[in-house]
Amino acid sequence: MTNNRESFGGRFAVLVALVGSAVGLGNLWRFPYLVGRNGGAAFILIYIVIALLICLPMMLSEGIIGRRAGANVFRSFKKLAPGSGWWLIGIGTIITTSLIISFYSVVGGWIIYFLVKSATLQLSGDATANGGIFTSLISSPIEPLVYTAIFLFATGGIISMGVKSGIEKVSKILMPLLFVCTVIIAVESLMLPGSSKGVEFLFKPDFSKVTAETVFQALGQAFFSMSLGCGIIITYSSYIKKNEHIVTTSFITSCMDTLFALIAGLAIMPAVFAFGQEPAQGPGLLFVILPDIFTKIPGGEVIAILFFIVVFVAAVTSSISLLEIDVAFLSEEFGWSRAKSATISSSIIFIFSVLCSLSMGPLKDFTIAGKTIFDLFDYVTANILMTVCSLGCVLFAGWKLKREDIIDELTNAGKLKISPATVSFFIFSIRYIAPAAIIIIAIFSLFA
Ligand code: PHE
Repeated sequence: MTNNRESFGGRFAVLVALVGSAVGLGNLWRFPYLVGRNGGAAFILIYIVIALLICLPMMLSEGIIGRRAGANVFRSFKKLAPGSGWWLIGIGTIITTSLIISFYSVVGGWIIYFLVKSATLQLSGDATANGGIFTSLISSPIEPLVYTAIFLFATGGIISMGVKSGIEKVSKILMPLLFVCTVIIAVESLMLPGSSKGVEFLFKPDFSKVTAETVFQALGQAFFSMSLGCGIIITYSSYIKKNEHIVTTSFITSCMDTLFALIAGLAIMPAVFAFGQEPAQGPGLLFVILPDIFTKIPGGEVIAILFFIVVFVAAVTSSISLLEIDVAFLSEEFGWSRAKSATISSSIIFIFSVLCSLSMGPLKDFTIAGKTIFDLFDYVTANILMTVCSLGCVLFAGWKLKREDIIDELTNAGKLKISPATVSFFIFSIRYIAPAAIIIIAIFSLFA
């Protein structure tokens, strides 16, 4: 069933695919507003500590599980722990990613719409008018669904082409483009008069805003941003050849993701401050405030187009990785072609997307625990499901995998040198530090 699996061509391919998954709306849209709401650099500092101490070991453990098993998430746990119930984590991750992609593709649809609007110069230099365009788009019952469908089924189309000719090829082209465009925008943004306030806001800590909730938010964001706890690293690592160095790829991926979030912050916040806007505005920042700012700076029309290309690329490479979980699962477990698996999974997900999209308009008064369906999906996946699944993966890697197998994966069957102290620290961290941190922070935030 899992024979003749494809693999990524080489290290660059692995990296662009992993970074492509990690860098997404989380970096561009969630990170800046969480920073805005949680004390600027204080939040960034907490985030970096969490990224290095908790998320990096977790990413590595998912990498070990995936490459060791060489199978989809469900089968990976079945293979590595036959006759046990660990495969439930695999199923948990399939549910998690399906829920994420259902609201993610709604936002993906809005992005396509704004990309078209900016390319046809239809965004005005008036925040109220832009706000009107945005609000009427997201609250209308049908129009956003058309764009959501385009986004979702285009993602499915890329995945149908395969790991190498689809995911790898597209990531190799899009990721460098994303990086270059973001840097150009950051430079432009930093050159605006008054931009230094934005830089100060990002890098000057305000610890008075830090609460237990802040730490929990940072943890949830770090999981989301690094695509942890949802089977993606497991699935992508199952396509990594046995001679690639997974420690290096995990390290570079987490650094690039954090670096990208900071560059995105530098592209966005200085411009926001230069124009005296509110930094903590959520999605409105991306779709209303920034387009408005762009029309006010020289050459801003081009920057607006570049900006929506950046957002689109970031979103599409992440949604590819999300949908790949389902496609790998369906094609390997049911023997369906990738195209059939992609079509069936996209169609089922689209039903949930419809609910998310309608919750911005006709269903906006329908709330569960005070949240609309869209907010509920976002909250439940980033803060609950990903936490539970990550805990499951890290406990599995720490307590269920044999030490020799872990060492075998870390050293590529003895070909690479890793000091025994490093191995011991890694195992200690996935056995105790990472699980304890996740549990403590989760409990803390429940009672905060
Ligand atoms: N990491 C992506 C982002 O930051 C989102 C994502 C989450 C992608 C989980 C895949 C899995 O936007």
